[in-house]
Amino acid sequence: MTTLPATPPAEAGDDIQLTPDGRLRHLLTLRGLGREQLFAILDRAEQYLAPPDQPVVRSDALAGRTVANLFFEPSTRTRASFELAAKRLSADVLNLDVSTSSRIKGESILDTIYTLQAMHCDVFVVRDAAVDVPRMIAGAVREGVAILNAGEATVAHPTQGLLDLLTVRRARPDLEALRICIVGDIAHSRVARSAAEAFTTAGVAELRLVAPERLQPDAAAFPGATLHDRLDEGVEDADVVMALRIQRERIADAGDIPDTADYARRYGLTESNLAPAKPDVLVMHPGPMNRGVEIDDETADSPRSLITEQVRNGVAVRMALLEMITETHAGGAA
Ligand code: CP
Repeated sequence: MTTLPATPPAEAGDDIQLTPDGRLRHLLTLRGLGREQLFAILDRAEQYLAPPDQPVVRSDALAGRTVANLFFEPSTRTRASFELAAKRLSADVLNLDVSTSSRIKGESILDTIYTLQAMHCDVFVVRDAAVDVPRMIAGAVREGVAILNAGEATVAHPTQGLLDLLTVRRARPDLEALRICIVGDIAHSRVARSAAEAFTTAGVAELRLVAPERLQPDAAAFPGATLHDRLDEGVEDADVVMALRIQRERIADAGDIPDTADYARRYGLTESNLAPAKPDVLVMHPGPMNRGVEIDDETADSPRSLITEQVRNGVAVRMALLEMITETHAGGAA
């Protein structure tokens, strides 16, 4: 076991996403946001949650606004979730098909943004494989236009971190008593980074990261967490265990990709591998899942699984963020 340092490194993005009085004008990273700010977003999201058998909650908070989804990497959950969130708030929604856009003809990402800004797009939801793209765009758009980071390289997926925290808080409100374990390809996971930031800011008792040696992260990215290479050590007495997929598309050296069967046996979430955890341990996965690798069917579909809740909560979190950021730009309610 390795204990990681307690002081987070400085991260670009913190400076630009808040107004001088601390309100969100963009969402680029969770780093630098306090517990009160995170909980204010979750509390707002709770207002947008409806039971699965009830009609969805709608509002006209974004009527007259336009939200543009720009996904330069594949997505199912995040993109659909932002689209539904914006529509349920009565926004106009543009989903740019990047594969048939003028990006293919060599247009820069900023020229794409300026073009859509001229068409009165007010919010850009951006996913990109490169570091710092959301921040670079946030620094270039006109006053009143907001950027929401929907997944940035391996470094940040802030709305995923928020929906994961909301999911844990709803299932186990005693956050300060929780031992949470994240298992998988931590080295290449933006989900792990943003979830870790959310959980540590919320004050969980313990955060453990489990990964094979070649998929272990740069320690500085996970202040306050402990790092393990044995799953039994990581899940011992855990209250919540989150599995991550192996991000093959980000692994440059094929030798770092573990053998699938060996990985499933040593790190996959199965009833037997979860035996050292608390008897009522809850299981999470941000998706997309590779069933039979990092999690088996029995565990993914068991009553202990929160995976469907994570997806459901994601729409509410994105509605809350869209509404709060729009309020900031309109100078409205705090
Ligand atoms: N969790 C997540 O980001 O899933 P997608 O890649 O499908 O958006």
